[in-house]
Amino acid sequence: MFKKYILGIETSCDETSASVIDSDLKIISNIIYSQQELHSNYFGVVPELASRAHYEKINFVIKESLKKITLDKINLISYTDEPGLRGALLIGKIVAETLGYIHKIPVVGVNHLWGHINSLFLSNKKITFPFLSLIISGGHTELSLVLSHKKRKILGNTRDDAVGESFDKVAKMLNLSYPGGPVIEKLSKKGDKNYIFFKRPYMSENWDFSFSGIKTSVLYYIKDLSKKRIKINKQLVSNICASFQEAVCDTLATKLLNACDMLGCDTVGISGGVSANEYIREYIEKKLNCNKIKTFFPDKNLSTDNAAMIASAGKNMYFSKTS
Ligand code: KG4
Ligand code: ZN
Repeated sequence: MFKKYILGIETSCDETSASVIDSDLKIISNIIYSQQELHSNYFGVVPELASRAHYEKINFVIKESLKKITLDKINLISYTDEPGLRGALLIGKIVAETLGYIHKIPVVGVNHLWGHINSLFLSNKKITFPFLSLIISGGHTELSLVLSHKKRKILGNTRDDAVGESFDKVAKMLNLSYPGGPVIEKLSKKGDKNYIFFKRPYMSENWDFSFSGIKTSVLYYIKDLSKKRIKINKQLVSNICASFQEAVCDTLATKLLNACDMLGCDTVGISGGVSANEYIREYIEKKLNCNKIKTFFPDKNLSTDNAAMIASAGKNMYFSKTS
């Protein structure tokens, strides 16, 4: 069998990315232009600025990604078609379809969440179906049972904020930088995780999540400090970060254990930007391994948005024979 090459394009949010992978899921290139600096003053992604930045950078990242394997060798173009910011998605779609039309290459639009699930296949050759997937990103918190490359049964979602969004909002409350996840992870290392017990909503009732609930209990705690005229010094900031991160870990691990137990599932894959967090990785892995559950994560550089995962999703959707 000849090797096939897939060009992936990702523009759903604030990363402009292009990647080439082969049909054995080897990554040839994975170019990511992050817009984080552009959005940091606003503490969140500004859709209009994101679309413009994608427009300005898309040709550059595609050219860079095609340095080793040129366009004439590409057998499939895969781009993110949903969900995401409308204008941002449109840039990726137009470029993918134009390249496909001119160079007579098939084009497939894929779901961004399938992309995150596919980051697991790029990093772990041993993960097998069925497995429980937990996507924890800036825009999504989704628990699902993955049955094949094309079929997953959604079990639970966030009812309000996504977990990454709650990291970003708590960071804002504490006057930290954007995005909040990496800075909260760093400060938590110096903090006491048992300093404050933040509320963990929906722990047992169902498989949905409420990260706005955890975030709001952090907000009330900070307001209460200010009412009592207690100054929030550096150590207290670290303690709040560590206690918040602990509440998130406890919620995620408990939900996963409950779901594995109820479904009789012994394999879990955790992906999305928040899965870059080392403490969360170790916490969940330890808890699940104690219960003989195999736990998989993407390589850290594939946790946040990237086009290699979109190329992998396209390859598995387009070339896979199973339904
Ligand atoms: O998957 P992603 O790149 O974009 C979406 O699809 O949403 O995730 C971005 C999110 C941001 O909210 C960011 O704060 C969070 O991932 N994040 C982290 C870490 N690195 C990124 N959260 C916790 N710990 C981290 N180390
Ligand atoms: Zn994402």
